[in-house]
Amino acid sequence: MITKPAAISRRSALRGAAAGLGGVLLTAGATGCTAQGTDAMPSGDDAPSPGAAVPGQDGRRVLLACFSRAGENYHYGGRTKLDVGNTEILAGMVSALIPCDVHRIEAAEPYPESYDATVARNVREQDQDARPAILNPLAAVGRYDTVILASGIWNVRAPMIMATFAESYDFTGKTILPLTTHAMSGLGTTVRDYRQSCPGATIGEGLAVKGEEVRNAGPGVGSWLQRAGLLPARR
Ligand SMILES: Cc1cc2nc3c(=O)[nH]c(=O)nc-3n(C[C@H](O)[C@H](O)[C@H](O)COP(=O)(O)O)c2cc1C
Repeated sequence: MITKPAAISRRSALRGAAAGLGGVLLTAGATGCTAQGTDAMPSGDDAPSPGAAVPGQDGRRVLLACFSRAGENYHYGGRTKLDVGNTEILAGMVSALIPCDVHRIEAAEPYPESYDATVARNVREQDQDARPAILNPLAAVGRYDTVILASGIWNVRAPMIMATFAESYDFTGKTILPLTTHAMSGLGTTVRDYRQSCPGATIGEGLAVKGEEVRNAGPGVGSWLQRAGLLPARR
């Protein structure tokens, strides 16, 4: 889905409202990781319109690249069925607070609905150091200063498709901010992994949110964005 600049304006308005209210409880954003903005879209027939990324705080242009899987998932030691992936909900909070282009990374071969089958596939992919193909690769990341890499944690690291994404571009001079949802592993090895995948980039402070508690993450997300200089500090 491609969202026109008006949608970015709406997010800017939401950001202003949220910043003004301070500590506002953010609910799950409807936008989630759904592709937003004009650089954040599949390659192919949909050519990006140049210069459409909206500058945010201090003129910084932000890309939020997100991989999230709905379906059967881990939940406090048991299982639950997620209609929307946890990281997609978290990404919706970020995109409601700051102007950014959102790119939802889709696997060319979708991951199974079953949790156990997904665990098994991920173990295979990690063992093989695989780079699962992306269905909708971004054309370029050149216009962005800051790239938020958002995903769940699978077997203590980001899903291997995040390595596919991170190794597809030159992030030299950009700031990478890891953003994860997880059960107990926090950021896992994402900081180390992105440092390796994105030589020349600065890996900034990451944020890890427990998947089961993602709907309460709004205040923490706001503080993190403030510390990253992407959201004005409250007065
Ligand atoms: C294949 C698989 C492996 C996982 N491995 C871990 C893990 O090692 N550590 C952890 O804390 N959580 C692990 N989890 C839980 C997920 O990180 C957590 O549910 C996350 O919020 C999922 O994000 P998503 O719904 O956006 O895909 C795993 C989940 C899956 C599906």
